[in-house]
Amino acid sequence: MKILMVCLGNICRSPLAEGIMRHLAEKKGLDWEIDSAGTGSWHIGDPPDHRSVKEAHRQGIDISGLRGRQFQVKDFDTFDRIYVMDRSNYGDVLRKARDEADKAKVRFLLPNEAEVPDPWYDDALFAPVYKLIYQACENIADKG
Ligand code: 4NP
Repeated sequence: MKILMVCLGNICRSPLAEGIMRHLAEKKGLDWEIDSAGTGSWHIGDPPDHRSVKEAHRQGIDISGLRGRQFQVKDFDTFDRIYVMDRSNYGDVLRKARDEADKAKVRFLLPNEAEVPDPWYDDALFAPVYKLIYQACENIADKG
């Protein structure tokens, strides 16, 4: 399975989701391809936010080598599932969908269309955001 994790900047939430999903796929022996992207263009080529790098490192996951990139229409061709963090990412990605098959690939990472809060302006959110993302990724790894 090929999974793309999407947030706004591709430096806080989706690199955490990519790193955690990679970690869990390896741990559970799943031959999955995992990537992440942002709907915005501000952080193309940037490493993840240092607060995300630190939180992941604290949990034994190294995301320091990831680099930001922007979501592209051709990602609908490459990936089977596209997980978004919040309602605004959902709208931004769906607007780029070319047909129903593209739209069907887009899902909220959290159950019941709950949102992963954007931690950019609040240092205290990185730890809870990590936990939310970890739990969601574990559910995906276990249930598919
Ligand atoms: P992310 O967080 O979408 O989780 O990567 C953000 C990162 C950067 C900005 C906003 C959100 N920004 O405005 O640059």
